[in-house]
Amino acid sequence: MTHPFSSYRKLFPILENTVQLSSCSQSAMSLPVRQAIDDYLAVWTTRGADWGYWMEQVALARAEFARMIHADADDVAVLGSVSDAASSIASALRFDDGRDGIVTGSLDFPSVCHVWLAQQSRRGAQVRFVQARPGASDTTARLVQAIDASTALVSVSQACFYDGQLVDIAATGAAARAQGALQFVDAYQSAGSRTIDVRAQGVDMLAAGAQKYLLGIPGIAFLYVRPELARQLEPAVTGWFGRVNPFAFDPARLDFAASAQRFNTGTPPMMCASVARASIGLLNEIGVPAIEEWLGLLSAVALEEAPRLGLEVVSPTVPGAKGANTAIRVRNAAEVEARMLAAGFVVSARNDVIRIAPHFYNTAEDVVGALRELARLTR
Ligand SMILES: Cc1ncc(COP(=O)(O)O)c(C=O)c1O
Repeated sequence: MTHPFSSYRKLFPILENTVQLSSCSQSAMSLPVRQAIDDYLAVWTTRGADWGYWMEQVALARAEFARMIHADADDVAVLGSVSDAASSIASALRFDDGRDGIVTGSLDFPSVCHVWLAQQSRRGAQVRFVQARPGASDTTARLVQAIDASTALVSVSQACFYDGQLVDIAATGAAARAQGALQFVDAYQSAGSRTIDVRAQGVDMLAAGAQKYLLGIPGIAFLYVRPELARQLEPAVTGWFGRVNPFAFDPARLDFAASAQRFNTGTPPMMCASVARASIGLLNEIGVPAIEEWLGLLSAVALEEAPRLGLEVVSPTVPGAKGANTAIRVRNAAEVEARMLAAGFVVSARNDVIRIAPHFYNTAEDVVGALRELARLTR
């Protein structure tokens, strides 16, 4: 299979001697990212402090993320983590006016679920976990079925951190809308690897951090809020960057920025923003639709090769039902991860699986090589 992005491989130094297939956890470091960190340090070293430069980097990162999800930059807030984004959203919602339900999937990432459970223990919400079986392709239908007139919020993970299974966020969003509920999308495992169009897919709120398929580092997350909705929400989790003019320095005045900017909290993570500006910029340059297509082909390669090698695939095997990550069941996953690294393959262990999660810079040979090594180590 001809690799369409082979010319970009030289931007990722680790690929010279290692196969990195861990984008569900941490993607490979690229030269533009290293340059962004060097630039940040150079500005700090030579100019001491430069608010203009820092704010510019944050604005550029926001703009790159917005471009990637087909939104306006104003409709994207910058926070420290997806958990922070969920907490900010939760603090702006009410669960005491006849709608108290929060519908979410049982395979969603814990920290987001924990934010919803905190609304149950502290603020009167009722969390309903929809059972999502590993490898299932019916989770969207199950979520849709669980949404009713008591639902305030539907929270979905677009691509599952464990087995990569996908939820059709347009379908769950439409079901939420039909019942007068809102939808929150956790796109941490999908942003950068799948096309997201918040307008076409009718998304209310969507959050993603930069560490995984966005090719960046932790410490920054983006939160999109549909503009008409943002204007109606006043988060109780806030800070000076959520104000109309953060630099007004008026401690007695709590006003809310007109757009999703009201979900900003404290001083934004400037260095992480420089990195995200560079890494998401690279993804936008290549184009996420082409990346999604390549990752689909690599998925097909993994699903074909793994059973041939006697490996047990935990991810959905129905075509189109999973994202880039292919989860393989193993005993002692953490130990297998370490042995794979010693053999030159960076993969990611979670509970009882090894996740093979390529990005655009990976080849079909990378995926097959990792699976063969995995089969050899676990035989
Ligand atoms: C789908 C998903 N959501 C959320 C998180 C965690 O996000 P954060 O640590 O930014 O709160 C992860 C981390 O692995 C994840 O995979």
